Formats: sequence, structure tokens, C-alpha cells
Amino acid sequence: MNKVTIKDLDIEWKTIFIRVDYNVPLSEAGVIQDDTRIILSQETINYALEKNCRIILASHLGRPKGNRIASMSLKPAAVRLSELLRKEVKFVDDCIGEKVASEVKALQNGEILLLENLRYYIEETKNNPAFAKQLASLAEIYIDDAFGAVHRAHASVQAIAEFFNKKGIGLLMQKEVYYLSKVLEAKEHPFVAILGGAKVSDKIEIIESLVQKVDILMICGAMAFTFLKSTGYDIGTSLVEDDKLEIAQSLIEKVGATRCKLIFPLDFVVVDEVHEDAPAKTIQTGKRFENKKGVDIGSETIKLYKEVLENAAMIFWNGPAGIFEIEAFSAGTLGIAEAVSASHAVTVVGGGDTVSAVKKAGVADKISHISTGGGASLEYIAGKSLPGLAVIPDK
Ligand code: 3PG
Repeated sequence: MNKVTIKDLDIEWKTIFIRVDYNVPLSEAGVIQDDTRIILSQETINYALEKNCRIILASHLGRPKGNRIASMSLKPAAVRLSELLRKEVKFVDDCIGEKVASEVKALQNGEILLLENLRYYIEETKNNPAFAKQLASLAEIYIDDAFGAVHRAHASVQAIAEFFNKKGIGLLMQKEVYYLSKVLEAKEHPFVAILGGAKVSDKIEIIESLVQKVDILMICGAMAFTFLKSTGYDIGTSLVEDDKLEIAQSLIEKVGATRCKLIFPLDFVVVDEVHEDAPAKTIQTGKRFENKKGVDIGSETIKLYKEVLENAAMIFWNGPAGIFEIEAFSAGTLGIAEAVSASHAVTVVGGGDTVSAVKKAGVADKISHISTGGGASLEYIAGKSLPGLAVIPDK
């Protein structure tokens, strides 16, 4: 990957359009729950500030489907960015039109303007060229730093690029691509991948791709139950995708034909009902689940994971091991976070829940790279062409 970056372009004193991904979780009261994406967007913004640019920031938030839904406004992101940069960040309650054009015209060198949610226009997700052209008319240079949205063929990600001669990726995007390329190229061994989360259906392509590269694939989270059920194990009332049993079984067969070792949890924490005070017990894989639900991996599994991760040279982790939002069922996921951070391997972690778990465990600063992209990081590693990168020229 050798894409033009913001540093390859002459941006000094120019008006620059930076596509960021400020799709951050908000509480009902509009309070940002996780500002990682805003924090990590600062490096590119600071670089543009050093170069005295007039900076236009644009993003989506949620899926308002062309409707102006107040709870999906980007206003809180402008406030947060302003706190982080200790500098005014202007906000305009639209992303195209006369009002926006006049705000942009009034921008001084070194000033920042965040536009309102691009997805208030359905044209954004439709990759509409006329809408993209309107966005593009605001600036002289286009920078895509929205790694989380790079897999979307949307107007501000894909169609917009053709209206700029000068375009490149931002510094966050560059870092994402650098580390995820390490996963894609898989040069460091032993290479261990941990995949968790609820659904096999979200991970089929990534599993097919990872088993060609990794030495060990550890599957946990509720999706492990679909695999286990597909081979005839009792899983009680655990979450399962019954319509994916055949796919799960054929994935297991496919892995069998590679040199990758597939490891399922040795034991699970199970309960009758999912709540904090539910009496829990540990049941070994293969034993009867007594009509109970698996909510976390058990202590034997955590021990095994720790041993495997200790010897790894490269680790990729996506998806929690259990319902870690509930304290009583968080030991497995937090245990993985600690083991990943304690290893001497190059460690790459992706996916919103997984990133929250790493933060909850207090080990975020010990991970080589925390990806801001969930779906985007999986698609990148699966080797798919990503629309947002495809439109940026090579150096
Ligand atoms: C994400 O959070 O994964 C990105 O911002 C993309 O959002 P989307 O899945 O709504 O396109």
C-alpha cells in the first residue's frame, strides 16, 4: 500500500476537506460514550493546522436514512473536538447549500468547521455524484481519514474523489493501513487470531481469509455455540444461529484442510437467565448444558488462551468472549485483553466492543494498534478492495 498521504500534498494555506469518522456512540442525552475516533482524528487535523489550512471536517453519525434526526447531530462531536484541541471548532447545521458555502467562505486560515451529519441526505449513502460534487465544491484538497467508513461506497468516501485533483489519505488512515497490512501479509509467526462476538454470519469471510494466514485461530463469544452445535455438542439455550449450522460445519472442514489449528473454548460460564446476580456455574465443552446459557468462557479456557498468546509473535483480536458489559460475565473478555497486552507480539485489536473491552481492562496503551474500524478492518484483512482507498491514487 503506497497511497498518497496528506504529507505528500502541498496543502499550505489551502481549504482542505477532511472526511473523518465521528460515528461515535451517544447516550440518549447526547453525551459521547466513547471519543476514541475523535481523539485519533487530531493528528491529521493538527498537521493541517500547522500548514495554516482552512479545515472542513465531514462525517456521518448513525443511520438516519436521509432524515434530520436530532439525536444523530454531530454538534456534540464539534464540542468534544474543540475541548481536545483547546481551540474553537465551528459547526454548521447542514453539509451542503448556501449557508454552508458562506460559512466556508468566512473561514480564516487555521480555522476548523465541522459540517452536520452527511447522512441527513440519502444521497450520501446512494453515492450520488451531484451531492458529492456539492461537497467537493467547498474545498481544494480532499483527504480521507475515515478508516471506519472506508468500506462504504458512499458519496463523501467514493464519488467525491473524482472532483479533486489533489487527494490523499490522512495520518490515521495511514496508520490503520500500516498495521492491518501486517495482519493481511501475515509475515510474523506464530500468528494467533481470536475471533469472538455473537454472529458467525458477520465473520464468514474473515474466517476463510484468516485460516490461510494464521497458525492458531481461537473462536469464542456466542458464535462458538453455532460451531459447537454444528458438530453435535449440547449448548443448552445459548445464543445460536440455527440457519448457519451448515456454513459453520463447512468452515470447520475447510480449516481442517489448512495448517491452521482451530481452538474452541474448553469450558463456559453458564446461567439460567442473563442478569448480574444470576447464579453461575462452569460447564466443560461437550458436557450437558442443563438447558442453561453460555455467557462467558470459563477459567480453563482463559488459562489456555494466556499460554497460547504468550508465545505469539502476531495477534489479531476481534469480538468479545462473552457478555462483558455485565461485570459477572466479563472475566473471559478482560482476561483476553490482559493476555493480549502482556504479550511481546505485534498486537492489533479491532471492533467497537473489543476496543471498549481493552479500555475497560485499562490496557489500551499496551496494544500496538487499536483499529477505529469494525467492519472496515475485517474487510481489509479479508483482502477486499475498499472503495475509499481505491479512489486515492498511489504515490
Ligand atoms: C462504523 O462505525 O463501523 C462506521 O462508522 C461505518 O458505519 P456504518 O456501518 O453505519 O456504515
